[in-house]
Amino acid sequence: MKKKMLALSMAVLMAASLAGCSSGTKEAETTAAASEAGTEAAESKEETKADAAEEEKTAEGGSLVVGTNATFPPYEYYEGDEIVGIDVEIAQAIGEKLGMEVTVEDMEFDALIPALASNKVDIVAAGMTVTPEREKSVNFTDSYATAAQVIIVKKGSDIASSEDLEGKILGVQLGTTGDGLASEIEGAQVERFNKYFEAIQSVLQGKIDAVVIDSAPAKAFAEKDENLVILDEALSSEDYAMAINKDNTELLDKVNAAIAELDEEGTLDEIIDKYIPAE
Ligand code: ARG
Repeated sequence: MKKKMLALSMAVLMAASLAGCSSGTKEAETTAAASEAGTEAAESKEETKADAAEEEKTAEGGSLVVGTNATFPPYEYYEGDEIVGIDVEIAQAIGEKLGMEVTVEDMEFDALIPALASNKVDIVAAGMTVTPEREKSVNFTDSYATAAQVIIVKKGSDIASSEDLEGKILGVQLGTTGDGLASEIEGAQVERFNKYFEAIQSVLQGKIDAVVIDSAPAKAFAEKDENLVILDEALSSEDYAMAINKDNTELLDKVNAAIAELDEEGTLDEIIDKYIPAE
């Protein structure tokens, strides 16, 4: 993740220095060409100021409705009545940067992309993996974390790897990349749950054989119950990003700029480390 972010900030820097070059040239030309150069410069300065004020106005009054599915510790989950987690804190930090007031809307995972389409939410922050399929209907921000799908079984299970899944029942969360992956495993049956927690309960009760789930929540669930075992095999490698309605490219640009700043300042790492302490 850090590498990617570095590449990103380099790109931003390069763009900035390129922009610097071209405006320098333009200024020189103007000075050489006309005696009213001074007036022109003053005018353009005023325009910039007006633009900035306008931007501040929209940002100040603006609200940012964040859609999530708070069944996914440590990215989003309930602590009492409050939704907390990595995504929530990153979204709040983005809101702070943009002067926008953040509210979080909890809904089913498979309702999140439709909620963007109908403008019920402005942005989705839900440990959502960037996939080509989803990119057809939404824009993704720059990635802020990486993940993998893993398999959770009950202690004592005869499943030792993905090779052993034939004839088994796999629990997934409906509409996730884990759902997609499990559905491709030949000879396995897939049971789709609205909440990961329900899939985990089912595996503990022996109703299903395994759960296909993202690595970080797998750890969070396994930490809470010693009867859960995470198999040492990554079924995928994925990037998490926030999703935004394709029409709202203005928000996309702003959020990407905020993510780049939060990365540079170390805030992203700080938030992630707070919830996933380095081993
Ligand atoms: N990373 C997976 C996906 O994008 C699972 C995300 C589930 N997130 C959640 N908040 N329940 O499909």
